[in-house]
Amino acid sequence: MLSAKSLFQEILDNDETFRLFCSVAASGEAQGGWENGRIAALVPESRRDLAPKIARHGADEDKHGRIFNALLRKRGLEPLEVPRETDYTMLLEARGIGLAHDKLRRDEPLTEHDLVLYLAHSRVTEQRAAAQMTMLRRCLGDHPDLGRAVRLIAEDEENHLAYCHEELLRLAAAGHGRAIQRALRESALVEMRVYRDVSLAVMARMGRVLGWSKAKSALLAAGIHALYGYERLGGWRRMVSLRMPERRNALGGPAKPASEAPELV
Ligand SMILES: [Fe+2]
Ligand SMILES: [Fe+2]
Repeated sequence: MLSAKSLFQEILDNDETFRLFCSVAASGEAQGGWENGRIAALVPESRRDLAPKIARHGADEDKHGRIFNALLRKRGLEPLEVPRETDYTMLLEARGIGLAHDKLRRDEPLTEHDLVLYLAHSRVTEQRAAAQMTMLRRCLGDHPDLGRAVRLIAEDEENHLAYCHEELLRLAAAGHGRAIQRALRESALVEMRVYRDVSLAVMARMGRVLGWSKAKSALLAAGIHALYGYERLGGWRRMVSLRMPERRNALGGPAKPASEAPELV
């Protein structure tokens, strides 16, 4: 019987697929950390209040990257260079979602509109991250080596999503409502295609290493296409709605050190 849990178990049990899984995750987290760090440094004067929260967001993502790298080291493995077709963060940037890295490398302050684009992109990608981590926590939350790391990251991703909702609602109240709706919609429509393509590319690689049958690979690919179909037909709306979160000011204060997974960081 093919379940998400058995699939993850299979991927984790093999050094090569474990290495790909952790390398893809670490690279996405590290890119997110870098982007947030640069955005925090370039926040316009009018929104200085956001800078510490964006910096905290970046610190969390950097910490996640270190955790995935530490999981690799613990198993005596080195991170591998992430194949382009599996590089979710870079593919999103290449499709014009979020802020261009060229812009972030310059030392010019961002505009409020840039912050709208950043937060809209984050609201969509953090929802994906939170959903993925919730699934991982369900499948691996009690895993002896990975459980603590997975639980810690899952909680952070929920905080990130709550923060995006709250800050976007604040910007909407300040008159950016239309721009926010447009940016959310554009981000969601591109993200779900990129997510589908990356999922197919990752699964194809896993399948080659693990020697999956044609039928098993086809079943998994059909599942990925079905999710995309659902999102395209209207599931995407759940990625663009805004609701004031129960957990307010989720990124107020400094980043929690990875004290729940101290052996990893
Ligand atoms: Fe993360
Ligand atoms: Fe995140």
